[in-house]
Amino acid sequence: MQSDDIYSMSDRILITYASRTGSTAGVAEAIGRSLRKQGTSVDVLPMSAVHDLDTYRAVVAGSAIQNKQWLPEALQFVQSQRLMLARKPFAAFLVCLTLALRNGETYRPFVADFLAPVRRQVPTVSEGLFAGVLDVSKLPSFGDRLKFRISVALGVWKEGDHRDWGAVQAWSEQLLPMLN
Ligand SMILES: Cc1cc2nc3c(=O)[nH]c(=O)nc-3n(C[C@H](O)[C@H](O)[C@H](O)COP(=O)(O)O)c2cc1C
Repeated sequence: MQSDDIYSMSDRILITYASRTGSTAGVAEAIGRSLRKQGTSVDVLPMSAVHDLDTYRAVVAGSAIQNKQWLPEALQFVQSQRLMLARKPFAAFLVCLTLALRNGETYRPFVADFLAPVRRQVPTVSEGLFAGVLDVSKLPSFGDRLKFRISVALGVWKEGDHRDWGAVQAWSEQLLPMLN
């Protein structure tokens, strides 16, 4: 590493996220709070507000899952920044409803596969898989509201906030050493 690099690289960690109805933003904020408590300088930003990755020594990126994938803008972020991200410790997380199903934990390997397109772009030092929120009234699309109302009535999905803050905290605690 050249001396210029040493001076330009700050000690900050970026936590960046893509979220449609806010639950992933909440998880990103919780990860940020936990890393700060562990004594690190952290910025928590939506991906749309990230302009310069150069100033961060490590990046944690997360997205809500729709149709078994990260949101398109999140995949686009990793694709377009892959060279820069590959030079830093990079961790990824997702927020989805599959883990909130009855026996949701048995789907963990299936849910881990949702991150395969991310991992193919940039190697990850750690991956967090979290249950999210279903509030049908908050969904912007009429079609999605209808689809989810039917599947809630059929007992497929359960409405509510299924985020497990203990799991988010536990992941954040093991994360910091991996970002060094
Ligand atoms: C249109 C749509 C498609 C979704 N597809 C999936 C899916 O394929 N698998 C899954 O586990 N959860 C799926 N979800 C659930 C979301 O991942 C979950 O509600 C998450 O908490 C949303 O995050 P956000 O509030 O940050 O947008 C879907 C939600 C919506 C609205």
